[in-house]
Amino acid sequence: MIVGICGSPRKQATEHVLEKALDLLQEKGFKTHLWTVRGKWVEYCAHCDYCLENGECVVQDDVQELYMLLAQAKGIIFASPVYNGGVSAQTKAVMDRMRAVVAADKNFFKGKVGMGIVVGGDRAGGQEFTLMQIHTFYIINGIIPVGGGFFGANLGATFWSKDTLEGVKLDEEGFRSLRKTVKKFADFLEQYGGK
Ligand SMILES: Cc1cc2nc3c(=O)[nH]c(=O)nc-3n(C[C@H](O)[C@H](O)[C@H](O)COP(=O)(O)O)c2cc1C
Repeated sequence: MIVGICGSPRKQATEHVLEKALDLLQEKGFKTHLWTVRGKWVEYCAHCDYCLENGECVVQDDVQELYMLLAQAKGIIFASPVYNGGVSAQTKAVMDRMRAVVAADKNFFKGKVGMGIVVGGDRAGGQEFTLMQIHTFYIINGIIPVGGGFFGANLGATFWSKDTLEGVKLDEEGFRSLRKTVKKFADFLEQYGGK
C-alpha cells in the first residue's frame, strides 16, 4: 500500500495533485490511501521522550491513525504546500511526530520508498528546497528517496498554483513532473517494496 500524506489545511491545490498521483498509482495496480492534516488534530512533538521509554507516543491525537497506516505502507508520498520557502508547519509537525514510531522500532521505515510533491503559489517560491526537506526526512529515517529524473522532475514533483486550484490545474509542466516522478516511484516500489 502507498500512503499519501497531504500537508495542506485546505482542500485545494496540494490535495488535488496528490489525488492525481494516487490515481496514477492505482492505474498501475497499487493500493493507495490519502491521509490529510485537513480538519485533523495534529499536535507538535513536545520532545517529552515518553516514546523513548515506552515505545509509543503519549499524545492520542489523529496522528495515531497515521502510525497504523504507515506501518502497512511500502510507499510514502509527502505532499506539501510551500510556506515561507519550506514545508508547511502541519507537514513538519507530522514528520516530527514520527520520532515515536522510530523509537519503538528503529527499522520502522527501513526499505520503504518515498517521493515528494510540493506546491508553491510562485513559480520559483522554494519548491526545490521544500522537496529537499522531504528527502532529508526520508534519508534520516531510512526511507529510499526517489525523484523523477532529469529533464523535468529532478527532485520530484513541483507545482506552481498561482494560489488557486484553477492555477494548479493549468500547470502542465507540474503534471509532467508528477507523471515522471510517479513512474520512477512505481519502478522503485516494484523493485524493492511490492504493491
Ligand atoms: C503562510 C503561507 C506562506 C506561503 N509561502 C509561500 C512561499 O514561500 N512560496 C510560494 O511559492 N508560495 C507560498 N505560499 C502560497 C502557497 O504555497 C500556495 O497558495 C499553495 O497553492 C497552497 O497550497 P493549497 O492550495 O493546497 O492550500 C504561502 C502560503 C501561505 C498560507
